[in-house]
Amino acid sequence: MARIFSGIQPSGIPTLGNYLGAIRNWVALQEGHECIWCVVDLHAITVWQEPAALARQTREMAAVLLACGIDPGRHILFAQSHVRAHAQLAWIFNCVARLGWLNRMTQFKDKAGKDREAVSTGLYVYPNLMAADILAYHATQVPVGDDQRQHLELANDIAQKFNHDYGTEFFPPIEPLILGPAARVMSLRDGSKKMSKSDSSDQSRINMNDDADTIALKIRRAKTDAEPLPDTLAALEGRPEARNLVGIYAALTSGDPALVLREYAGKGFGVFKPALTEVLIAALAPIARETERLLADPAEIDATLRRGAERAAAIADPIVAEAERLVGFLPPR
Ligand code: AMP
Ligand code: TRP
Repeated sequence: MARIFSGIQPSGIPTLGNYLGAIRNWVALQEGHECIWCVVDLHAITVWQEPAALARQTREMAAVLLACGIDPGRHILFAQSHVRAHAQLAWIFNCVARLGWLNRMTQFKDKAGKDREAVSTGLYVYPNLMAADILAYHATQVPVGDDQRQHLELANDIAQKFNHDYGTEFFPPIEPLILGPAARVMSLRDGSKKMSKSDSSDQSRINMNDDADTIALKIRRAKTDAEPLPDTLAALEGRPEARNLVGIYAALTSGDPALVLREYAGKGFGVFKPALTEVLIAALAPIARETERLLADPAEIDATLRRGAERAAAIADPIVAEAERLVGFLPPR
């Protein structure tokens, strides 16, 4: 059975983009696969996180994942910092990955912006840690949103170079799973930017804990154009905001944007936005309610994460120990 791994940063409340691009697919993949889901707090601190906020957000992220249907009984849910193997393997990968490879990472360029001298070195080697997350479990399938494609290519390059340099086949190839009509959900304020939990404008995103009124308001204010919806997907080219809203509606209904256009062609946003709002509230309200219920018992969430970490370490520790042996480290015991 293929082993699946994916991660999400506890850098804020997860957004509709996280849900449609990742979490919802994770839940579906739990049928018929062995899955490992990780709240990646080591990745989160590559940019500054207030310590109290990080702890709270890590719990909130776990609660949202559980509320969405992540099953910590049949699968594994844990916090990255609880399993030492991630940082240990990441160090080895820091010595395998080449500077030139990291220089090509578009996410680093985006996040570092103009002030490159001032960002943490962790942000730069972030993709090496991500490769370690996956390869510490010999996971072969990784469901992510479209923005992570380049990082997974790098993870494969690292695995290949490790295997080549140490004359082994130890690390398997990784296959990205980029699924659905909403693998890239865009900002509600700017159709050229992805929806992100760290965007400074709360109006740019739907948070997984937004209540019905907040969702309605954000959709009403979402940027659009003056044209009615067209009858073909091709005609949405050049209308990124309209295309984004149609994609969201499709992801929450049939999955097919063409069907959405069949229903709404010729209609304006005065009609489409209320319909979208209704679909969003129906999907998100039960998740928000369940998240709230789970957060009432933080000790139970922490216990779930600790149990997950024990099971994760039982898989990762021997794999990383073997990688260390291949590198030539003396056995520690
Ligand atoms: P992050 O919030 O960066 O930790 O991302 C967690 C997961 O959500 C990754 O698989 C991302 O690719 C996915 N994701 C994040 N933002 C979006 C978005 N706007 N649209 C689709 N997927 C996303
Ligand atoms: N970098 C991913 C993101 O921001 C999160 C992540 C960390 C991840 N480690 C991972 C995703 C391993 C998949 C597999 O979206």
